[in-house]
Amino acid sequence: MHKEFLAWLEQNRGRQYDLHTEHINSAFVKMLRTIGFDKGYVRGEGCYLWDGEGNKYLDLLTGWGVFALGRHHPKIKAILQQLIGTDSPNLVRMDCSLLAGLAAEALTRHTSADLSRVFFTNSGTESVEAAIKFSRCATGRERIVYCEHAFHGLTTGSLALNGADFFRERFGTLLPGTQRVPFNNLVALEAALSDKQAAAFIVEPVQGKSCEVVQDGYLEEAQRLCRKSGTLLVLDEVQSGLGRTGKWFCYQHWPNVEPDILCVSKALSGGYVPVGATITRPRVMDCVFDSMEHCVIHSNTFGQNDMAMAAALASLYVMEDEHIVENAAEMGRYVMEKLKGITQSCPFVSDIRGKGLMFGLDFARPENSFKLKMAWDMLHKLNAGVFGQMIIIPLLHKHHILSQVAGYHTEVIKFLPPLTITREDLDWFLGALDEVLKDLQRFPGAAWDTVFGLAKRAIRA
Ligand SMILES: Cc1ncc(COP(=O)(O)O)c(C=O)c1O
Repeated sequence: MHKEFLAWLEQNRGRQYDLHTEHINSAFVKMLRTIGFDKGYVRGEGCYLWDGEGNKYLDLLTGWGVFALGRHHPKIKAILQQLIGTDSPNLVRMDCSLLAGLAAEALTRHTSADLSRVFFTNSGTESVEAAIKFSRCATGRERIVYCEHAFHGLTTGSLALNGADFFRERFGTLLPGTQRVPFNNLVALEAALSDKQAAAFIVEPVQGKSCEVVQDGYLEEAQRLCRKSGTLLVLDEVQSGLGRTGKWFCYQHWPNVEPDILCVSKALSGGYVPVGATITRPRVMDCVFDSMEHCVIHSNTFGQNDMAMAAALASLYVMEDEHIVENAAEMGRYVMEKLKGITQSCPFVSDIRGKGLMFGLDFARPENSFKLKMAWDMLHKLNAGVFGQMIIIPLLHKHHILSQVAGYHTEVIKFLPPLTITREDLDWFLGALDEVLKDLQRFPGAAWDTVFGLAKRAIRA
């Protein structure tokens, strides 16, 4: 097979849904089939995906933020191809990898001066797990304060910091010593930190599940409260980091903010190799690795592997070389401005939120139209979670735009376009959204028929 691997793969084309049903996650396959998202994409390049019939799709989901530079960026591909052609020693473990050193140097060029130490991980949740351990070790305290609606990953430590019960329930007792506070609420944060027993306060500058952004002044004040109580400020920028919001890191929108720990992942992979990083100050890292005896007290088998480090280096290089952060800022401003215009006349849209190219629409019961209010109520009585499908289904089927509802038990639709996106592609999206929002306002109408059918099928299933 090794010489004809691609031919062998081609022979198996079309089997993926049955294989996933049999061996991976049958509920997921059922969900995809129910909403007609089982497209069987065969190719991805830049901002686009193609199905087997040659239809082109604009990807505004980007693998949950992984394809920030689009799929198969030629420069990243070229760097990885060069490396795979060598016999690099890789993961010797009892030596120091040059690639890891270079990746750490490149990454910390864009963080605040004192954020100079890097622990490489394999995922976002692992970056958060490291932040939990590092802050506990550096402070000698246990409690981690986190926010309502927060999402920091789904391994049990990160899950203990999840602000939605939906994700936590059914998994038993999670990491002890955590405390939830409302997002953007400094009074509650001050109270939670006042006994000087919290090791860390962790927060996403833009919440992934709600697209809610920290208010101006919030991070500065949270930082002041943390410093006052000896608590470390941990910013989870797994999603909002690396250009996504129009700055290298989202916290840099507020000049005086400098976290003690910064978690990143997703975009760092270049869309090729899983990688994450927990970036911190020397004083934190030196507490964890405080002696030769403790020099691998926190470690991972695959961290610092050559392909991941090269993917990280290549991604950072492309971001600098192609002025990706600047493009994200400009395109973010453009899309936000246009969205305001498009959504103004839609009575279901209650808010447009986000920063840069991480933005979402929130929907609510319309107040001014009896007919639409009735439609909303009927649908929510039947199934509280399907309204968002009325947006994402026609976006995919009619307009060939891939997106997803932001979270469970929420009406928010979030968009994470590639940071390389052009005005032309944003216009493709804006035109499509305009049409979809207009269709929503026709009740009875085809959009409502589809979603009522879906709600009924979901109940039957
Ligand atoms: C803010 C944030 N933190 C952590 C994670 C977890 O990352 P991973 O899925 O790579 O474990 C995510 C994933 O979406 C995230 O958005």
